[in-house]
Amino acid sequence: MLTIGNRTFESPLVLAPLSGISDLPYRLINRKVGCCLAFTEMISAHAMVYENKKTLHMLDMDEADRPLGLQIMGGEPDIIKRALEIAEQHKFDLIDFNSACPARKVSGSGKGAALMKDLKKLEEILKAIIANTDLPATVKIRAGWDALSINAVETAQLAESVGMAAVFIHGRTKSQGYRGNVDYGIIKKVKEAVGIPVIASGDALSPELIKRMFDETGCDGVILARGALGNPWLFNATTEFLKTGIVPPRPSGTELAEIMKAHLALSLQTLGERLAIVRFRKFFAWYAKGLPAKKLKDSAFRAASADEMYRQIDVLAEISLAGKCPEGTSTDVIFGSRG
Ligand SMILES: Cc1cc2nc3c(=O)[nH]c(=O)nc-3n(C[C@H](O)[C@H](O)[C@H](O)COP(=O)(O)O)c2cc1C
Repeated sequence: MLTIGNRTFESPLVLAPLSGISDLPYRLINRKVGCCLAFTEMISAHAMVYENKKTLHMLDMDEADRPLGLQIMGGEPDIIKRALEIAEQHKFDLIDFNSACPARKVSGSGKGAALMKDLKKLEEILKAIIANTDLPATVKIRAGWDALSINAVETAQLAESVGMAAVFIHGRTKSQGYRGNVDYGIIKKVKEAVGIPVIASGDALSPELIKRMFDETGCDGVILARGALGNPWLFNATTEFLKTGIVPPRPSGTELAEIMKAHLALSLQTLGERLAIVRFRKFFAWYAKGLPAKKLKDSAFRAASADEMYRQIDVLAEISLAGKCPEGTSTDVIFGSRG
């Protein structure tokens, strides 16, 4: 269980905001196998306010896609206030603010992780969020900007003092990007320094590593990001592992095909055939990771129609069923390190 503000969620495992990835079909698929709380990808407040068509599509959700948090990124309190007015027309359950993104086009303009270097501005923004939403508001931060400016504790305390309901922390600095060791120590310090829930992120790649995150930091929840790509079963597998100490067998070829086909069908429904196929190609490669399917991945990458993609999924299922990776043995194949 995880409680944030006045909302309680059935599991402490949270589906990460992932830019360019965590769209409606992706979130719905993860919900089929144990995800109880998901976030939209990071959405620019500015693009929302200026009604960018692609951005407004990112707000797409439906009842089956709840509870859902909206993650907003921006740098001007007034624009964020207007974006929150737009968000009110949707049924989000939480509002998260991104103070963690390292991408140059975001942090280079004083947004995302750059706000950890300007806590005064971050404070203004967080206060504007609290003043303009009735939903529990949270903030996602990093360990700090770089190794010489680790300030996650100060930032989390600031968030708590202005009324944020929880802190999400990626235990790497902006300079590290997505590489290098996760700093479990800084997450633990943040947890000890604030009374609000702390949800940890970084290398949540397997049930064992997720347990390690809980054990070493005392965090209230863990974000599943790269570990769930092509491996939504990580949710149920981790829940099982936390309960019993046993990692369940990897999904059978049949289960793999079922989830992949459901994912493709949802993508077709929401995106239309052309875009759905383009988007699904990368998911195919993630689902196939660890299986001896290099040539198949190449042909899936060239697939131009839904029928073709469905056929490639059937072939992948056969490869998996053929016993090249016997069920219940090599959990690394599906549950192992990624990205
Ligand atoms: C491709 C990609 C896109 C991401 N997009 C977002 C995003 O939109 N918002 C966000 O807060 N974090 C984003 N992240 C960071 C993840 O949510 C997560 O904190 C990070 O990947 C560390 O977790 P992991 O090591 O378990 O993958 C992104 C990460 C990746 C790899």
